[in-house]
Amino acid sequence: MEKVLITRRISDDALALIRNSGYETTVYAELKNISQDELIKMCEGHVGLLSVGPNQIDEHFLGACPQLKGIALMSVGYDKVDLEAANKHRMPISNTPDVLSEATADTAFLLMLSVARNAFYMHKSIERGEWNFFDPMQNLGQELYGKTLGVLGLGRIGLEMAKKAKAAYGMDIIYHNRNRNEQAEKELGAKYLSFDELLQQSDVLTVHVNLTEETKGLFDKSAFSKMKPNAIFINTARGAIHNEEDLLLALQNGTIWGAGLDVTNPEPMDSNNPLLNMENVCVLPHIGSATKETREKMAMMAAENIVAALKGERMPQVINP
Ligand code: DGY
Repeated sequence: MEKVLITRRISDDALALIRNSGYETTVYAELKNISQDELIKMCEGHVGLLSVGPNQIDEHFLGACPQLKGIALMSVGYDKVDLEAANKHRMPISNTPDVLSEATADTAFLLMLSVARNAFYMHKSIERGEWNFFDPMQNLGQELYGKTLGVLGLGRIGLEMAKKAKAAYGMDIIYHNRNRNEQAEKELGAKYLSFDELLQQSDVLTVHVNLTEETKGLFDKSAFSKMKPNAIFINTARGAIHNEEDLLLALQNGTIWGAGLDVTNPEPMDSNNPLLNMENVCVLPHIGSATKETREKMAMMAAENIVAALKGERMPQVINP
C-alpha cells in the first residue's frame, strides 16, 4: 500500500479520509521541530507528504525525494516553497485557502482591540500585584470607534478583518493591494491608496500580504517613521514582513503607539524578547487559524488534496501549474 507522511498530529477525520482512500499513513507525532535532513529521511518510502509546519520545500528537498507524487501544505501561506523548483520537478503543491480566513481575521481583530486597551500588559500587572487602587488617569487605552483601518493586502483574510472593523466600530477602511478590490470598495467604502498614503493615514495598520522578496522587511524604520504616533501595527501574516529591531525602536521612541503580533521572526520568539514587556504590545504564538473548527477544515482540505495528487488527479487547491 502506498504511504503518506504527515508531519504533525491532525484530526481523526482527515486521517480516516486518507486511509479510506486506500493509503497508509505515517504520523510524526513528536512535538519538536523537524530539520530538512530529518524530513528527507522521514519521507523515504512515502509517495505523499502532508506538510504541517514550516518545512522548507526547495530544490534540495525535491531532488532528495523523487518518489513523492504530491505535497499538500496545511497552511494558506507557502513562503517556504520554492515554486520554481516545484515546477521544475513537476511536483504539485496545494495549500488551504479560504477555510482559515475568518479565524485569522479574528486573531487580527483580537490583537487590535487588545493593543488598544493594553490588555495583555494589564493582565500581567495584576499578576505582579500592581492592582492596588483606582486611578482614573491610569491604564488608559484608546478607542477604535470611527478610526481608520489600513489594510495591507485586501485578499480573503484582509477583507474579513475590514468587515469586522467596519461592523464593530464603523472604522473607515483604506487599503493597499496589488489589485483594486471592487467588492470592498462598493460594500465597505474602502479607499485604495498608495503604500505611503496607507502608512500616513492609518490609525490601525493590519498586514495580510504573503511573505515575498517584495514584502520582506517592508515595515522598517522608514515605514514606521511615516506612521501616525497613535498608530497600532498588527501583523498576523509573517514575522519577516516587519523588522523587529526597527519595530521595537519605533515603539520605544513613540514613533507609533502599539503593536499586535501573531507572527515573529524567528519563531518561536525568545521568552526574553523586550517586546514582551512593553505596555502597548501583545504577542501571540502564531495562532491565527488555531480554532478547533478551522484546523479540522484545514486538515480535511489538505487530506483531499494529497489523495487527489496520489490518484493522479488535479489537486483542488493546487498552487502551481
Ligand atoms: C498559514 O496558514 O499560513 C498559517 O500562518 C500557518 O502557517
